[in-house]
Amino acid sequence: SIPVIAIDGPSASGKGTIAAIVAQRLGFHYLDSGAIYRVTAYAALQNKIDLADEPALVELAGRLDLRFDGAEVYLDGRPVGDAIRTEEAGRAASTIAVLPRLREALLARQRAFRQAPGLATDGRDMGTVVFPDAQVKVFLTASAEERANRRYKQLIEKGFCANFAQILQDLQERDARDAARSAAPLQHAPDAVLIDTTGMTIEAVVQAVLDLYSQ
Ligand code: CDP
Repeated sequence: SIPVIAIDGPSASGKGTIAAIVAQRLGFHYLDSGAIYRVTAYAALQNKIDLADEPALVELAGRLDLRFDGAEVYLDGRPVGDAIRTEEAGRAASTIAVLPRLREALLARQRAFRQAPGLATDGRDMGTVVFPDAQVKVFLTASAEERANRRYKQLIEKGFCANFAQILQDLQERDARDAARSAAPLQHAPDAVLIDTTGMTIEAVVQAVLDLYSQ
């Protein structure tokens, strides 16, 4: 079957950066599954849909006109840009991500990215739910401080203002919500390889994942 490299992990563990580089090195497609949750939440806010209204969100997910082109996400033909990259959009994404029927409604959209010659993808449940038969499963972790620091730098680079203490607190709340929810709680697949990236360079993590794939 078409190879999948599934990279899961908590907020700001570096999974998106790693998955995108791995995809590029192997000439694979790339799916940022978090962007699907983010843009769905963003569209819900725009359509004044309550983030707890599961039937309305499921209906919205079914008719969302989404297209991905590299790192850019198009909603109804228009690029959404960094509007889905704010902490607010992340919080909204994690709020709707607790809803099991919404998660189900987004499954087919995610699986459609599995195309030749292969897919590298990142999220919370890529190796457990979306691609349980992935050839490589990696679960990235890093200390909360290191992850808050990475997120801080990322936001500053995008020109957003950022407050380290606030980010750290947000991240810990998001971790708790992602871990405690009953629908696809954040946990590693039993057959995932755990990599603690605290103090590791991006290149070292990329190499570790590529080594797992070529084994
Ligand atoms: O890395 P970060 O959590 O900031 O962002 P993300 O990966 O874009 O995901 C945003 C939110 O979407 C997460 O906090 C999760 O609650 C949710 N999500 C999920 O439930 N399942 C996925 N496969 C991806 C994201």
